[in-house]
Amino acid sequence: MKLRVGLIGAGGFGNLHLSGYKKNENCELVAVASRTEQSATRASGKFNIPKVYWGEDWRKMLREEKLDVVSICSPNYLHTPMTIEAINNNVNVLCEKPIAISMKELEEIEKLLQQKNLIFFSSFQKRYNPLMVYIKKIIENEVLGKITLVRYFFSHLGPYTSWRPLSQQKWFFDSEMAGGGVLLDLGVHCIDTLRYLLGEFTEIEGYSQNTSCKNIKNEDNCNVLFRFRNDTIGFVSVSWCNEPAEVIEIFGTKGILKIDLHSSEPLSYISRKLKRSEYIKDALAYEPGSGRTQHSLIDHFIDCVLNKKQEHPNFKDGKRATEFALKAYSFKK
Ligand SMILES: NC(=O)c1ccc[n+]([C@@H]2O[C@H](COP(=O)([O-])OP(=O)(O)OC[C@H]3O[C@@H](n4cnc5c(N)ncnc54)[C@H](OP(=O)(O)O)[C@@H]3O)[C@@H](O)[C@H]2O)c1
Repeated sequence: MKLRVGLIGAGGFGNLHLSGYKKNENCELVAVASRTEQSATRASGKFNIPKVYWGEDWRKMLREEKLDVVSICSPNYLHTPMTIEAINNNVNVLCEKPIAISMKELEEIEKLLQQKNLIFFSSFQKRYNPLMVYIKKIIENEVLGKITLVRYFFSHLGPYTSWRPLSQQKWFFDSEMAGGGVLLDLGVHCIDTLRYLLGEFTEIEGYSQNTSCKNIKNEDNCNVLFRFRNDTIGFVSVSWCNEPAEVIEIFGTKGILKIDLHSSEPLSYISRKLKRSEYIKDALAYEPGSGRTQHSLIDHFIDCVLNKKQEHPNFKDGKRATEFALKAYSFKK
């Protein structure tokens, strides 16, 4: 029997979720909800989804469609109310990032999830880049020695320039609807990937931001300095003002690794001695493919729902990434 799947928010990323479910043989797309009839109908036509809801009727969809699974791909301020309604209707949730925009919302979801036996996934698809598995092995096997510093740079020219949301609402630049700026948008990906590679972060130690290219209230450039539990220093730098780039640099006592995620040859390293390591050789042999990491995440989520197992990226991963941004914001003067 196939899982009954619904989706809320038939925008740019919602469409990518829908294509993932469409390809998964264990799923049947049964309903789609969006703010406007136009967006919901467009997705329904494109993916052959029988039921369509718009306006506030996403609540009705969750109540009436007997869904097994829902993807939440709406603007950030709606993630928590939609998640809560889904949990109350016993629907397993894949929620887009950030899963919430306040600490209070995180607490509300956590409390409710503890009362139910549901699968919750946070949409951190960067973990599914196969290269990350190689990098994690390099770190865990101490090829780079003790890791002392990690830097993650992630930029593009911003929503509506580099990334094309589909909704006419232009909510990304509305501080109420987005809940934050580039840190809450891109920074949460960085910290999730770094937590996956290096473990938990503890303290936020420094923060700087400005609004230099978009005419918005929130930050469009942002740096966060922080610390991991093992004392490694971390630095996340995100921007909606610079050319698209995504680079991770890992500094250890025995070597340095640079991962340029936009390059066809993503890995470079210092020193030459590192090439003797089988782990480095394996990582160098990796050729970036055309596979969609979002589809890998959806396949994993569906497998977890079918087999009733909660794996990562789970609620805690979504919570910690959101906390990272919110704690950094508390440094704002
Ligand atoms: N994981 C990633 O890498 C990644 C990448 C991009 C985006 N995202 C996340 O995905 C989410 C959506 O972003 P997007 O770029 O897809 O934006 P988008 O194209 O603007 O899509 C937002 C969707 O939400 C719908 N919506 C708004 N209010 C609603 C309501 N009250 N009820 C039902 N639907 C409602 C909109 O409907 P209308 O079209 O009818 O207005 C639109 O379809 C955001 O949280 C974003 O952070 C994640």
